[in-house]
Amino acid sequence: EGMKILVLGGAGYIGSHTVYELIDAGEDVVIIDNLETGYKEAVHPKAKFYQGDLRDRAFVDSVLDQETDIDAVIHFAANSLVGESMTNPLKYYDNNLCGTKTMLESMVAHGVDKIVFSSTAATYGEPEKTPILETDRTEPTNTYGETKLSMEKMFKWVGKAHGLRFVSLRYFNACGAHKSGEIGEAHNPETHLIPLILQVPNGKRDAISIFGTDYPTKDGTCVRDYIHVTDLAQAHILAVKYLMQGNESDIFNLGNGIGFTVKEVIETAKEVTGKPIKAVEEGRRAGDPAVLIASSEKAKKVLGWNPEHANLHEIIESAWNWHSTHPEGYKTK
Ligand code: UFG
Repeated sequence: EGMKILVLGGAGYIGSHTVYELIDAGEDVVIIDNLETGYKEAVHPKAKFYQGDLRDRAFVDSVLDQETDIDAVIHFAANSLVGESMTNPLKYYDNNLCGTKTMLESMVAHGVDKIVFSSTAATYGEPEKTPILETDRTEPTNTYGETKLSMEKMFKWVGKAHGLRFVSLRYFNACGAHKSGEIGEAHNPETHLIPLILQVPNGKRDAISIFGTDYPTKDGTCVRDYIHVTDLAQAHILAVKYLMQGNESDIFNLGNGIGFTVKEVIETAKEVTGKPIKAVEEGRRAGDPAVLIASSEKAKKVLGWNPEHANLHEIIESAWNWHSTHPEGYKTK
């Protein structure tokens, strides 16, 4: 018997990839997405899709009334742009926190008591040390990270009162695309390094900007831990199983534990695409920590997670497979 999973934000980048893995594994999937940043085309044809907003209690109740026997919820439905969260913080409080609050009210009322949450390394802020452990200080340096940390706390307190159990997955730098080539990364505007780099060989951008060359790293550019979206997707399935087995709420980092500089990522993209990629050195982008590398030992040990696409060349190859065939992203943008 397969599980029945409700995926919030299942038309977005990481959500859609997780839905593909769930359906591949034979599970039953119901999606809620308001399509503000998600795409109808990214919705797996075998998933049942409800378009609507988590802040709309009547809508959420109507879905949970119809979809009985939901084993667990996986929650990706949030705004996630660091820069925008600083200029429009209340948008983040409204969508991320109010949406989650309404969803939890409905879950409690319907007796749905397990949730896996799409969290972020941005909950840590400027790291105390590298690699980052789940027990390290959480002091977000932007509203986005603050709202994700508040959502984690909401699950904790609701859990104490109503018996909800949660797993929070703090991702580092999600990237890459599904092997089928049917879904991939498509943000509008795009702010992430790898898709922006690939716009250059795709003829959509003259050059990639390097934000800061004076960081205390081996080549002066920021170091990040790039993790394939399919490996992230697998971690969500393991987290659901962990909760289904009756385990306690917990928090896990998801990364490869290996850092690459911005310049190394650009060099790898040149190898993958076989094309020159012009880079322009610019000043630092506000709020960027120099180095973000995860320790994912806990996820490996407790969840049995084993990232299979850790190689940066392979990750960028999968991203290029998507971007070179979808230079405009999804058609319904
Ligand atoms: N960068 C450039 N040029 C660009 C874009 C990015 O040099 O045009 C650099 C950034 O300065 C950073 C690195 O590339 O050093 C990666 O930047 P991304 O924007 O791709 O990713 P971030 O590390 O800033 O952010 C990611 C997630 C966020 C999350 C954060 C957690 O996208 O959602 O990790 O720290 F909050």
